[in-house]
Amino acid sequence: MGFFITFEGIEGCGKTTQLRLLKERLEAAAEKVTVTREPGGCPVADQMRAILLDAKNSAITPLAELLLYAAARAQHVQEVIVPALERGETVLCDRFTDATVAYQGHGRGLDLTVIEELNTLATGRVQPALTVLIDCPVEVGLSRALARIEATSGAKEERFERESLLFHQKVRNGYLTLAAAFPERFVVVDGSGDVQQTGLLVEEALRQRMQSLGKAGLAAVKAGC
Ligand code: TMP
Repeated sequence: MGFFITFEGIEGCGKTTQLRLLKERLEAAAEKVTVTREPGGCPVADQMRAILLDAKNSAITPLAELLLYAAARAQHVQEVIVPALERGETVLCDRFTDATVAYQGHGRGLDLTVIEELNTLATGRVQPALTVLIDCPVEVGLSRALARIEATSGAKEERFERESLLFHQKVRNGYLTLAAAFPERFVVVDGSGDVQQTGLLVEEALRQRMQSLGKAGLAAVKAGC
């Protein structure tokens, strides 16, 4: 079986950039890597992503939103994540089940037990071995995210970025609560610096964690060997 790593954090925390940098480091060390993301990651789930992130769809109810995330995840896990892990690859996924707990649970206030059950159903109990939480203040993340959206020419995926500061604060607190509850799975990295500073922190955190997980190959990558 391969090794499953997820990246999480609030809008504009820099997780997507850090995931790409890790992919480059792993591939340079001849690791086979599958990079994917949620919501989306395969054609059917990408169509659900378009519905979920379009700011025109402000009428989506919190429950419908939750079920759409679960449906997209069920498709994505079966079609992309499980096959890649069975091929022995390292899977790097930009957001996964923790995002549902943080956004729909802590952000929207939906029942955390229901979310947990839906996550279990949608994933068939496939869980990341490691989750990198890139944490930063909501003001920092949101100003980066909104600047990126302004610079985007195509479809603007901004339904969540347009939520209130309070919503994003709840999401951030949700992520930090998860990290505290599952310290063996999470590494938390400060994402308030620039890409390079954060990259060094991610590298060091992963190197330490991989060593303790006994993933010698990946540990060597992080150590720059
Ligand atoms: P992205 O901007 O990182 O691509 O994520 C898409 C948005 O979807 C982001 O605002 C967070 C949100 N989201 C949820 O609300 N629940 C989820 O389960 C997932 C995976 C994402």
